[in-house]
Amino acid sequence: MAKWIDNKTVIITGASSGIGKMLAERLIKERNCTVIGVARSEKKMVSFVEELGDYASKFKYKLFDVSSYDNWQNFHDWLVENNIQPDVLINNAGVLPRFDRLVNYTKEEIDESINIDFYSAAYSSKIMLPLLMKSETPAIVNVASSAALMALGGTSMYSASKAAVKGLTEAMREELRGEAYIGLVCPGFTKTDIFRNQGATDGMNLINMVSTPCHKAVNKILKGILRKKSYIVVGFDGNAMGRFNRLMPVQGSRLFSSVIKAFKIDLFASTFGYEKKSAKKDK
Ligand SMILES: NC(=O)c1ccc[n+]([C@@H]2O[C@H](COP(=O)([O-])OP(=O)(O)OC[C@H]3O[C@@H](n4cnc5c(N)ncnc54)[C@H](OP(=O)(O)O)[C@@H]3O)[C@@H](O)[C@H]2O)c1
Repeated sequence: MAKWIDNKTVIITGASSGIGKMLAERLIKERNCTVIGVARSEKKMVSFVEELGDYASKFKYKLFDVSSYDNWQNFHDWLVENNIQPDVLINNAGVLPRFDRLVNYTKEEIDESINIDFYSAAYSSKIMLPLLMKSETPAIVNVASSAALMALGGTSMYSASKAAVKGLTEAMREELRGEAYIGLVCPGFTKTDIFRNQGATDGMNLINMVSTPCHKAVNKILKGILRKKSYIVVGFDGNAMGRFNRLMPVQGSRLFSSVIKAFKIDLFASTFGYEKKSAKKDK
């Protein structure tokens, strides 16, 4: 059965890795979409094109930092000059700051999170919307996080940035009701490379244990997009965080933070103020 997204032109940010890459591949192979992927690493994009093999002609890419307003304006102008009409924008690019207390972040870390995780979606939506509205099926899907549904110790900037994405998306959904599909995706822990900058490996086993495999997360996201769902929550942990936060806004976050603290993993040592196991071994 044909779906609304079949044969459309879809822009996906963060298409060089993880969720964005797998989403791009599925849309190309299963829904015959043309995907314009956006990310910074040419090496990763080139290897993705190679992996696509016979489908490579359905994938174009542009390399730019999504946190810059000017980059979005230039990208918009490039699309217009080349007579490319996008139908769907998926704002998926994101970074996960290392888990730590707010007071320990540098200004650069604070700025990086809000710029990449939030401003990118605000800038791209503002700049791209008039062009998207020329499509018969205009759509914007923003990838936030379960961290937008419940903030845990150690995730201040990430939770704040993703909560801002949630607010932006919900407001746009009402502003454009009946004119465009606006979707919000809130994944829980998902197995991708996003944890690469955490600076500790102890605790990754625990995170991997509760993480949803990337292909399952993308399955759920794709199904939700095909059904034009406004709100797509992914994973057992994502759903639990959403529910607990609604029922117990303070105690819920305390409970989840306490569980993480109880495992005393290095990943959260600085956040909860205990000594890293790796530091103990070195003594
Ligand atoms: N994995 C999880 O547990 C999880 C949970 C909740 C929410 N999410 C969200 O899901 C989305 C995808 O994450 P993922 O897990 O697939 O992570 P990932 O594998 O690290 O992919 C992140 C993508 O974003 C791109 N990117 C990062 N900063 C960028 C910038 N300034 N400009 C352009 N592109 C940039 C990266 O490409 P380059 O490095 O080539 O620039 C990469 O393609 C993110 O928004 C993330 O916050 C993930």
